[in-house]
Amino acid sequence: MSRLQAEHLYKVFGTRPDEGVRKLESGSDRDELRADGTTAAVIDASFAVEPGQIFVVMGLSGSGKSTLLRMLNGLLEPTAGRVLFDGQDLTALSPGELRAVRSAKISMVFQHFALFPHRSVLENAGYGLEVQGVPRPERDRRAAEALELAGLAGWEKSWPDELSGGMQQRVGLARALATDADLLLMDESFSALDPLIRRDMQDQLLELQQRLKKTIVFITHDLNEAMRLGDRIAVMRDGRIVQLGTAEDILVTPANDYVASFTQDVDRSRVLTAGAIMADPEAAYGTRADNGKELRNAKDVLAAAPVTVRADTPIIDLFTPCSTSGVPVAVIDDEGELIGVVPRARLLAVIGEPMTPAETPPRSTGPEQAATKAVASA
Ligand SMILES: Nc1ncnc2c1ncn2[C@@H]1O[C@H](COP(=O)(O)OP(=O)(O)O)[C@@H](O)[C@H]1O
Ligand SMILES: [Mg+2]
Repeated sequence: MSRLQAEHLYKVFGTRPDEGVRKLESGSDRDELRADGTTAAVIDASFAVEPGQIFVVMGLSGSGKSTLLRMLNGLLEPTAGRVLFDGQDLTALSPGELRAVRSAKISMVFQHFALFPHRSVLENAGYGLEVQGVPRPERDRRAAEALELAGLAGWEKSWPDELSGGMQQRVGLARALATDADLLLMDESFSALDPLIRRDMQDQLLELQQRLKKTIVFITHDLNEAMRLGDRIAVMRDGRIVQLGTAEDILVTPANDYVASFTQDVDRSRVLTAGAIMADPEAAYGTRADNGKELRNAKDVLAAAPVTVRADTPIIDLFTPCSTSGVPVAVIDDEGELIGVVPRARLLAVIGEPMTPAETPPRSTGPEQAATKAVASA
């Protein structure tokens, strides 16, 4: 079962929201609704988030990200559609039941984390537990553990104003981690930080996620951040999800020109993986090794390849080997079997323009396996 599911979610602000939904369903867009004073913040959003995934929602300011997130934790009631959390329909719960689910299972981390100035770092980190009614000694113990996870061991007794912006944001993260909530909702949590600190926080989140395996919905307006963090990414525009896929899907086959325009600044060599761009092994059969010998089978290819890599290797690691040899790079699976090859020409081609769907190479590893969280330039 998916941890979280959004089914045809709509949020329309205005005097007659239901009528707005009907208009949207019959093809009206945001601008047409705006003409009569109605805002379509989220339009027909459907997706599933699996346990342990980082699901990123990416879009420009005003595209509906925060509204979507607030429906996911029940803070906003959808105008239409459902939110299922562990199969339970949040939209059908009473306010009391909803509060109970929220406080036990869902944590939020915001862009500007409001710390209580007159409470210590430890007390701030334990705030979510305090709300849950967890007694003092256990609260302090769990808050201290969470601070350690967030890289703030030793700062427990400090006051918020003694911390830098990045450290304060870590306290926010610690507060979310301390409650043991399965679902973390992060709304532009790193957006206010300086680039270097931001990157640090991204690394830390990925590292934490390896250990804690939470389910995370992370909102950002930055595609590089989305690509670094996201197992799957939903790109939003004007209230709608215009593409849903892995970083590679978005980079290799953007759904439209709008998405493609975002990808121009992304360092493709660090996001794309060997698995995403490889061709079938047969593509190398019949070509020649550097010594002139014909490559007839997988064994020949493996022996002659300038380097042998796994499917999740970022292609930036393939350039140097490819510069010294004309033989394709060999891509192998966990058993060491040849599953694909990357000829030099393909490596160079994918660094340039996005491919059209027809040119997309076969995906013998499947999109999930080929997915990467490689470093995109900040
Ligand atoms: N409570 C509200 N009442 C009316 N309009 C709203 C409300 N909240 C958000 N909006 C509008 O919905 C749209 C999406 O907003 P938001 O979800 O905050 O976008 P994002 O987080 O992507 O910047 C915007 O046009 C915003 O002005
Ligand atoms: Mg927002």
